Amino acid sequence: MAEATGNQDAKDYGIGIPQKSEGYFLKGNAHVDWGIKDRLSRIFNPKSGRTVMLAFDHGYIMGPTSGLERMDLTIVPLIPYADCIMCTRGALRQIVPPTSNKPISLRYSAGSTVLTDLNDECVMSIEEAVRLNASMLAIMVAIGCKKFEADTVRTLTKTIDEGARFGIPTLGVTAVGKELVRDARYLGLATRVCAENGAHVIKTYHCKPDFEKIVAACPVPIVIAGGKKLPELEALQMAYEAIDQGAAGVDMGRNVFQAEHPVAMIQAVRAVVHDNKKPKDAFDLYQTLKNKS
Ligand code: R5P
Repeated sequence: MAEATGNQDAKDYGIGIPQKSEGYFLKGNAHVDWGIKDRLSRIFNPKSGRTVMLAFDHGYIMGPTSGLERMDLTIVPLIPYADCIMCTRGALRQIVPPTSNKPISLRYSAGSTVLTDLNDECVMSIEEAVRLNASMLAIMVAIGCKKFEADTVRTLTKTIDEGARFGIPTLGVTAVGKELVRDARYLGLATRVCAENGAHVIKTYHCKPDFEKIVAACPVPIVIAGGKKLPELEALQMAYEAIDQGAAGVDMGRNVFQAEHPVAMIQAVRAVVHDNKKPKDAFDLYQTLKNKS
């Protein structure tokens, strides 16, 4: 406790030295609140500005997806290699050790499944996200979906408002329905709509050509989903191209946990994202780690 008497006089005022005022390393997020910046700095490495997120929220629409049948056996060993984990609140409480100490991109919206029309979603309470110590709130945004486009944009908007009350950023996830094409024209529109509505980070797909134009026209960081399982070298090639064209990281699921050796694969992805390894070199690392184990 501070004493009332006998204290040294304050004298180190640094007169003439301007107070430092740091910028912020993530584009489009220089003017958000301190808590949001703190959480984003846990997800993205402040030195590289990049992240390797591990997505295993697929069960909320797809049930026991291949590789996620027993998440305690397949996902828990991957968590130490991820910069951030993206999952449902169910998975979090059921299998993620609270001692993992990883930032959580919480699947915050939920609703219809692959058995019906996707994207008819609601959100949980913000208190629940705070209780779970979420670092980011992930919302599916179905731009171009005739039935649910406006609903999902409303959900995004509501989440951004609620998250802001507690300093939690929002991740806009661009959903691609069966009828929509994954090209630069569509993805450019969808990512921009999410950003203009206030999403702090956008998750979308890589596409060819013109992914760099999507990144350039999106005023906040983009991370790419992996999509359906590809041969490991092709998945590393995709991650490399995305990073090279300006993505701030990956939020990959199936291309990691459905790989022949998931623990080796996530390390190879890290080598691409954080060490700028070329796809071939990262694939060599994958083979070496796979053979070692
Ligand atoms: C979709 O259900 C989720 O948002 C996934 O997190 C997302 O699709 C990323 O996973 P993947 O890399 O398997 O596409």
